[in-house]
Amino acid sequence: MQPVLIKQIAVGPMANFSYLIVDTGTKKAAYVDPGFESEKVMAVATKEAWQIEKILLTHTHFDHIQELETAYQKLKVPVYVHGFEISAIEEMGVSVKAVATDEIIKVGNLSVKCLHMPGHTPGMICYLVENHLITGDVLFVDGCGRVDLPGSSPEKMFETLKRLTQMPDDIIVYPGHDYGPKPTDTLGHQKKTNPYLAAAAQGKDYFFGVRGV
Ligand SMILES: [Fe+2]
Repeated sequence: MQPVLIKQIAVGPMANFSYLIVDTGTKKAAYVDPGFESEKVMAVATKEAWQIEKILLTHTHFDHIQELETAYQKLKVPVYVHGFEISAIEEMGVSVKAVATDEIIKVGNLSVKCLHMPGHTPGMICYLVENHLITGDVLFVDGCGRVDLPGSSPEKMFETLKRLTQMPDDIIVYPGHDYGPKPTDTLGHQKKTNPYLAAAAQGKDYFFGVRGV
């Protein structure tokens, strides 16, 4: 096992989480979702002598990118986002790279896998490193992201949640917002307590409330 550390940092007025994915062997790190309070997040890295070498975005809603330009100006490291949402970032004048589905991004010696998980937005990426899954606004502890926004798709969210029900129980979920009774949980426990995951496991008709006669 690689020496991965996921540092969860509560930021801003909307119960967001930013994350640092850290390779404790090399002290290289990636900064996920600079939504708010980027100075606070970067100060954590500085204090621990972690060197942020990449910025990863789960998606481009404002509460996940509001301080992207601020963080970029300080860090001058490449920004990664799914190609479906790259236009929103290109306008900012930062160095941005389009992430392909299942692409592996290196953070130090860690391999971070980019899982395309649409539904909340078209280009939502969940970042998987070993058994740690940063879920953005796909999955919250006991909740899931909204699907009534521009670009949302309830159908795609169903497929994404169903896919999550088929992933290993020992995965630890790191959500984009602190909306649940605790800040993280195992996917195995979420399969039991998260009503959206439980409904997705029952199939499409059940998920959309079509019970038949
Ligand atoms: Fe969002």
